[in-house]
Amino acid sequence: MSEIAKLDKVSKIYKLGETEIAALDKVTLSIARGEAISIMGPSGSGKTTLLNMLGALGKPTSGEIFIDGVKISEVPERNLYRIRREKIGFVFQNYYLVPTLTAIENVLIPTIPMGQDSYRERARYLLNQVGLEERIYHRPFQLSGGEQQRVAIARALINDPKIVLADEPTGNLDSKTGDEIIKLLTTLNKEKDVTLISVTHDERIAKIADRTVDILDGKIRD
Ligand SMILES: Nc1ncnc2c1ncn2[C@@H]1O[C@H](COP(=O)(O)OP(=O)(O)O)[C@@H](O)[C@H]1O
Ligand SMILES: [Mg+2]
Repeated sequence: MSEIAKLDKVSKIYKLGETEIAALDKVTLSIARGEAISIMGPSGSGKTTLLNMLGALGKPTSGEIFIDGVKISEVPERNLYRIRREKIGFVFQNYYLVPTLTAIENVLIPTIPMGQDSYRERARYLLNQVGLEERIYHRPFQLSGGEQQRVAIARALINDPKIVLADEPTGNLDSKTGDEIIKLLTTLNKEKDVTLISVTHDERIAKIADRTVDILDGKIRD
């Protein structure tokens, strides 16, 4: 199986005045193409930082990161957006939809640099796929939490990413709605061959994952 992402002795140190916080401490992790991984650990253990590193949201303090063959640690910060745009979709606990935009406009946000018009058809298709064909022109406040998360998932898929990174995707949802979102993410992983990396406290997500990675104090426990 080929490798889609790799962290090699990655450390991320945040400096706050005199204090240094090692959010990640020499983390080594290899992720296979098409794999579903769940990252678990207590609050403050470094899960979001790990996900950010895998998503080319900033660079590590030391160590090397490869995403789909590209050595991120050697790409200048100002060019990282291109890796994110081409290879990665993000789903967050709080959805991060733009409140003034409709569902379809939100889905189209990542395509703004390429010209949105040629993606409109795909945006409709994706909203259809996530069961929101009747909600295309709704704005976030007119949608339930689960529906907002579906919009966010459609947005994550607009660029046909190889990797979807989900940070507590069911964290704000009731259990039934959470089940639906998990089903959607599972389908994505199993049928579309998208590599799915989720940070979660949700045992249901851990159950559908091929592998669980436990993190504590910035270190992977094995
Ligand atoms: N931008 C930042 N600046 C300073 N410290 C940070 C920053 N982001 C995270 N941290 C610290 O790094 C550690 C790991 O944070 P995080 O990756 O968000 O953990 P988790 O997602 O597991 O809750 C925590 O101690 C947190 O306070
Ligand atoms: Mg977090």
